[in-house]
Order: sequence, then structure tokens, then C-alpha cells
Amino acid sequence: MKILLTGGTGFIGSHTAIELIKLGYEVEIMDNLFNSKITVLDKIEKISGVKPKFYKVDLLDKEGMDDVFSEGQYDLVIHFAGLKAVGESVEKPLKYYENNVCGTINLLECMKKHGVKKIIFSSSATVYGDQGVAELTEDMQTGVGITNPYGETKHIIEEILKDVAEAEPEFEVTILRYFNPVGSHPSGLIGEDPNDIPNNLMPIIMKVSTGEIEKLRIFGDDYDTVDGTGVRDYIHVVDLAKGHVAAVNKMKPGVSIYNLGTGKGTSVLEMVTAFEKASGKKLPYEIVGRRAGDLAEVYANPDKAKKDLGWTAELTIEDAMNDTINYLNCLEEK
Ligand code: NAD
Ligand code: UFG
Repeated sequence: MKILLTGGTGFIGSHTAIELIKLGYEVEIMDNLFNSKITVLDKIEKISGVKPKFYKVDLLDKEGMDDVFSEGQYDLVIHFAGLKAVGESVEKPLKYYENNVCGTINLLECMKKHGVKKIIFSSSATVYGDQGVAELTEDMQTGVGITNPYGETKHIIEEILKDVAEAEPEFEVTILRYFNPVGSHPSGLIGEDPNDIPNNLMPIIMKVSTGEIEKLRIFGDDYDTVDGTGVRDYIHVVDLAKGHVAAVNKMKPGVSIYNLGTGKGTSVLEMVTAFEKASGKKLPYEIVGRRAGDLAEVYANPDKAKKDLGWTAELTIEDAMNDTINYLNCLEEK
């Protein structure tokens, strides 16, 4: 089976490419390299033995994408490409709607033109908004109470995919709602390496540990949680990548939606302690006020993915921390 990964040089896409190649899938990558580096391809080759064919093409470049599909003859697309900085999306909403929503429409038109009928889409737990409960299941209503344009783009794209699948009965759509991806490949060669200033917890912890950021600012310790800090479902990126492989094997007509999470919540302070334990170093932090739009506690109910895809997350927070530190050490050695 030949698979195109849009955004495949990025954090989650590159890990997924490796897991797919390992199982013998033919993988090609299309990315504009806005938030990733071309050198990722060599690292994928070093780990998997195969260097995927690469196209530096933007989702907004319809002609360029048409050429990719004419050459590629793909069976399936895994659509990772998108902008994901929540804060920036509030400041530049049009950039986010254009890139993520218009980009996806261009991709779907191109797929239709070239007879490609299978797509897996990278969605997010953010589409659930505030449900008033911590444990989230796929059948909950989505799209209400989303607090930023980035999250809105994920919801809108989910709705577009549902409409397309309704109009085209042969279309096979799988929507994967990721919780909080963390960790790195155990080789230490690839991991999260954002080109801009991060706003997610784990990349910030990484930059505090290397001294690039002075200290972690913990957004609130007065939530109704185990220790007052926010609780999230952190999933190791290798587990997440394997979730995509499981989804590839179980594509079916219509729309299938799965949470990809561990089902277990971890607080910010627990993440700090886990990082300190794995690195043997103190991580400087201060408690500051709550961040607007943050929820107290959120975690996945992962039962549907287990039942239908036969997939469950196997790696722990400790694995994620050890792999992240290994990745940081490998970066330092260069
Ligand atoms: P990433 O930024 O590392 O990877 C995304 C890739 O898409 C980058 O390589 C970027 O250069 C590329 N890209 C962006 N816009 C493009 C365009 N117009 N044309 C071509 N390429 C383009 O991000 P990631 O963490 O690997 O996330 C992958 C997907 O998963 C994204 O859609 C993201 O929104 C979604 N997601 C991520 C998280 C997370 O916390 N990492 C959580 C939920 C959902
Ligand atoms: N946090 C801090 N300090 C920081 C950064 C984060 O205390 O500097 C805390 C947050 O308050 C939260 C936890 O760490 O309690 C996780 O925050 P992230 O920003 O890493 O993740 P979120 O769960 O807030 O958001 C992420 C993605 C969104 C996605 C959402 C889905 O950033 O894109 O998960 O649940 F929509």
C-alpha cells in the first residue's frame, strides 16, 4: 500500500513514517518545511533503512499538489500538515483558517480528482471543548466552547470530512483525536523540534532543562485536581504513531472517529517530578496565574480504539521522559 503523509517531516508524521516503513508500507512525504527540517528524512532512513520520497509542496499550492498526486498514485493519505500554535492562532486567525481549512479543502479536491478515497486526519482533543467532565468519549458533542481559532480549524475540518463522506459513499475517513503527544524516538534521532517558541508543556520543559528558557511557569495550582495543577493525558509519540498504523489497517467506508490517548491523567507537577527523576536535575519553576482557556483535567476514554483498532498505548510517562532526555543529549552532542 502506498501512503502519502502530508506534514510527514513534522513531529508526529516522522514517527509515524518509521512505524509504517517498519511494517513494509511504501511511504512518501509532502511538507512545506515551515515547522520541520529536511534533515529529518536522513534520520528516518537511519532508523528504518528507507528514505521516503519527499516533495516540498504547500497545501495551498494546488498545482504543486496535483503534480505530487499525478506521480504518486497513492492508496491513502495521512493528513498531518497544519499549523498548531494555539497562541499564534488567536493573533493570526486568518493564517490558521487559510492554512488548515483551505489547505485541507485543496487536499480533498486533489484526492477526489486522482481517485484517492482514503484519508486519516490528525484531529485533537480540543474539539471536545469544555464538557464539564474529565473523561472524554468519541460520541460527545463537539465544537462547543472551543477557545481558540486553532481548535476551531480542527472542528471545521472534522465537519468537512463528515460532509464529504456523506456525499461520496466510497470515501473512507478516519479521524484521530490526539490527546497530548510527548516523548521522542528511543534512538534519540528524532523528536519534537519546533522552529518557533513553544507553548506546550513538554517542549517548554525541554528548553528549561537546556537553559534556553529560565524557568517553567506553571499556570495555576488552584484547580480541583490531585495537586492543584492542570491534568492532561500525555501519550508517547511512538504509541501515537502505532495508533496510525492500526488505523491504516482498519479503514472502512464512512467516518470513524477514535481518541488516541492513554486513559490516564498526569498533573503538571507530576510531569516536572518525572522529568527531574529521569534527568537527575532540578527543573526550575514558578507557579503563576491560570492560562485563559485552560481546563482543569482532561483525559481520553481510549476504549473504542482498543475495541475497533486493537490498539492501546503501552509506553509510560517514564519512557517518554527517558526518551526525551536521550534526544536532548543527542542534540547536544551535535
Ligand atoms: P508539526 O508542526 O511538527 O508537523 C506539522 C507539519 O506540517 C510540519 O512539518 C509543517 O512544516 C507542515 N505544514 C504546515 N502547514 C503546511 C502546509 N500548508 N503545507 C505543507 N506542509 C505544512 O506538528 P505535529 O505535532 O507533528 O502535529 C501534526 C498534526 O497533529 C497537526 O495537524 C497538529 O495540529 C495535530 N495535533 C498535534 C498535537 C500536538 O500536541 N503535537 C495535538 C493534537 C493534534
Ligand atoms: N502548562 C503550564 N505551563 C506552560 C505550558 C503548559 O503550566 O508553560 C500546563 C497547562 O496549563 C496544562 C498543561 O500544562 O495544564 C498542558 O498544556 P499544553 O499547552 O501542553 O497542552 P493543552 O492540553 O493545554 O493543549 C494541547 C495542545 C492543543 C490541543 C489540546 C488538546 O496544545 O493544541 O492539547 O487537548 F488542542
